[in-house]
Amino acid sequence: MSMEKTFYFTGGKTPPETFPTDALALISQKAIKKIGGAFAFYPRQHEYSSYSDLGYKGLREVVSLRYKRREGVALPIDNIVVTSGSMQAIELVGRALLKPGDIIITEELTYYGSLEFFRYLKLNVIGIPVDDKRGMEIDILEDTLKCFDRLNLKPKIIYTIPNHHNPTGAIMTEKRRKRLLDLAYSYNIPIFEDDCYGDIDFYKDRKPRSINTLDDEGNVLFVGSFSKILGPGIRLGYLYAKDNYLNTILSHRWDLGTSVLASIIVAEYLKEKMWDHLEKHIKVIKRKMDITLKALGEYAGEYTKCTPPRGGLFIWVKITQNIDMEKLSLYAERRNVKYDEGKLFHYRERELKALRLSYAHIPDEEIPIGIKRLSEAIREAII
Ligand SMILES: Cc1ncc(COP(=O)(O)O)c(C=O)c1O
Repeated sequence: MSMEKTFYFTGGKTPPETFPTDALALISQKAIKKIGGAFAFYPRQHEYSSYSDLGYKGLREVVSLRYKRREGVALPIDNIVVTSGSMQAIELVGRALLKPGDIIITEELTYYGSLEFFRYLKLNVIGIPVDDKRGMEIDILEDTLKCFDRLNLKPKIIYTIPNHHNPTGAIMTEKRRKRLLDLAYSYNIPIFEDDCYGDIDFYKDRKPRSINTLDDEGNVLFVGSFSKILGPGIRLGYLYAKDNYLNTILSHRWDLGTSVLASIIVAEYLKEKMWDHLEKHIKVIKRKMDITLKALGEYAGEYTKCTPPRGGLFIWVKITQNIDMEKLSLYAERRNVKYDEGKLFHYRERELKALRLSYAHIPDEEIPIGIKRLSEAIREAII
């Protein structure tokens, strides 16, 4: 077989085939005509952004409705800021609330984009172990907080991905979410809830409510994205926070706002089509996840283990035998297969016998070929 083609099981990409190209092309014309010459203004100079840095109102309304459908309560639109992807929201929070040397608590494994940014800010990142199914280990969090308290040290924020945790796919149980909130109240630490994958759920039964919904003291900063329900090239996300945090965060924003052009197109489309689109989108992702899991079972079942995720875009694969991870990377490269190495997600970049596969952007028929090659590389790297 020709080895020329490279299989990229990397990055949190979406299926190109579910991107609503035609619908967006049609709606763009209508959407742009709706506000026409108002594009001559900076967002904060116009009514369409409520004369503020919050961003296009129509998109904030969509965010609010999206939240209401899942959580049963709407988010107040004046506390939502539209951002350039959720990564900008993370950046804004980091720059506004954190400074070098500050302690930040995260899951021991977490999204490497956030981790890299926290390192860039020179934060002292403390990782709490995470259970593949039930999320952050709250008993260990409690011990850690007690320990810091005894030392007279106070973590500044707890960053968590409770839904479809990246990379493990865990869903933090509601009991753990409530305990996390109680701990955060008693130690007076805000929670930074990253809900990037919250709506990519393969099953209809209810997930636990978001930590933000369970919170009644305004102690949660909540970040969401349009990247994973439409496509990351859209670059739209948002942050929700209570006034006190929001005002501080906005005072650290210098980019003059998020594209109103992108916002209005997405808002007009999702206003009408969000749930139909999501249903189709999720069905395709689930199908690809099934294909990936089946191929993994067939070709690498003897030496790998994974918890089938109930949503999100990743499969966290643990290698159950002794393996040389450096060699694996080399052997996979030789077979033109790329994956995200487990250590990238570890708060201290510890070498792990694990890797993260991203499959949603790969054509169905190519997935088994790529997984077969990866499995051969794993077999070869086993010691
Ligand atoms: C957990 C998590 N948060 C945030 C992001 C940033 O996504 P975006 O800026 O495209 O919304 C990602 C991207 O993969 C992610 O996995």
